[in-house]
Amino acid sequence: MKTTLIKDILALPADGRDVEISGWARTKRESKNLVFLAVNDGSCMASIQLTFDRANDEAPQANALIEERLKRILTGAAVRAKGKLVPSPASGQASEIALTEIVVLGEAPQEYPLQKKNHSLEFLRDVAHLRARTNTFGAVARVRNQMAFAVHSFFQREGFQYFHAPIITASDCEGAGEMFQVTTLDLEKINGKADYSADFFGKRAYLTVSGQLAGETYATALSRIYTFGPTFRAENSNTTRHLAEFWMIEPEMAFYDLEDNMVLAESFVKYLMNWALEKCGEDMAFFDQRIKPGLIQTLTHVAAADFVRITYTDAVKELEKNAGAFEFKPFWGCDLQSEHEKYLTETVFKKPVIVVDYPKDIKAFYMKLNDDEKTVRAMDVLVPALGEIIGGSQREEDYDKLLSRMKTLNLNPDDYWWYLELRKYGTVPHSGFGLGFERLLQYITGMANIRDVIPYPRAPKQAEF
Ligand code: 4AD
Ligand code: MG
Repeated sequence: MKTTLIKDILALPADGRDVEISGWARTKRESKNLVFLAVNDGSCMASIQLTFDRANDEAPQANALIEERLKRILTGAAVRAKGKLVPSPASGQASEIALTEIVVLGEAPQEYPLQKKNHSLEFLRDVAHLRARTNTFGAVARVRNQMAFAVHSFFQREGFQYFHAPIITASDCEGAGEMFQVTTLDLEKINGKADYSADFFGKRAYLTVSGQLAGETYATALSRIYTFGPTFRAENSNTTRHLAEFWMIEPEMAFYDLEDNMVLAESFVKYLMNWALEKCGEDMAFFDQRIKPGLIQTLTHVAAADFVRITYTDAVKELEKNAGAFEFKPFWGCDLQSEHEKYLTETVFKKPVIVVDYPKDIKAFYMKLNDDEKTVRAMDVLVPALGEIIGGSQREEDYDKLLSRMKTLNLNPDDYWWYLELRKYGTVPHSGFGLGFERLLQYITGMANIRDVIPYPRAPKQAEF
């Protein structure tokens, strides 16, 4: 039976009114005459304290029942409770519930894994099915929920249409060959070469690495669209910033050039930060105190700062001034490493940096070629402590240039015929970008490992739960 959420109870005046809550027991403390039970239902960070006064002899039968049931309640047990909402003498909480009735919905024996207060994040990854019951992961889940809502709120305000890109696709958008194959062929029975014409889709199919190509087809019809869904990459990198399954937000805009794209990306990131600061106060305070001291100050500063804009060529010059400090020596043409991105954002500029005009050889085929014919209209948004959070570009809208680029990269134009046709029928300048949702959450919560900002991380050798 449904009861009131604890977050709503805590907003009520403690005027002795009758209330009823449900949740999971966090801690139980006893003194001679008093029992205190902290119950949390995940609707907010705070638990509510239930108090039971053994010395109160008003309703001896009801009290005997409460006493008996409290004995069965250990950390982790699920309970439903009724009582009076009264002011709390304890510090740190305005109200508490003086118990009049308690029901044990589900006991939790001593083996309940979340007994002690401060488990390591590594340990909690092994009990990911329970970790949302901790303060840290409850807060991550609530902030994740808020940020998803903020994404929609931002784009709806800006006149974008939410677009659902297919998850199963035959094209490799990023051209990095990091795709998970989708097949119904019996791998046990394949000797040598697989016959894909006999496969489910009649050709090779994959899980998408990006919704962009499909997004472009709708942007060149609806003007402004955004995707927000799961994407997949079989990158065999065990880092704190990579997942095999992650969520990406990809706006795509007809009639936007790279400058418009940058303005949108910057205002989007700031909007999301302000949203977190304004709507996730209690959880953000927790991250600030317990996960990353100074976090709120940093986010407040970044939300008000102008992002730096710099060309790749100038960025490399900055890095070369301090070449000795890096494991990977920077040079024109190199892909920026995480250490380079950190140096630019943390040491040189001390705020987010948008790097533009990357060498074409280190970027995807669809990016618009600059007049120098060496660089493309790419933009990466880099943030302190994390590096790349957004990757985007103005797209090549010229049919011949796009075709020649595909051929150079050994992409088969027949596989992308529909994408090429966008350049044949009413082609327009257009741009877009992708924001990694988990990277954003890392940045906002201060959580160091990307596996701790998604409920069930998928990574090399990791698909449990
Ligand atoms: O830079 P990427 O590869 O760009 C694209 O996929 C474009 N199609 C986007 C577009 O223009 N529509 O990826 C975009 C962002 C990165 O900046 C990063 O935040 C995130 O996606 N990302 C990952 N996040 C977690 N795990 C991974 N393995 C990621 N790979 C990329
Ligand atoms: Mg990128």
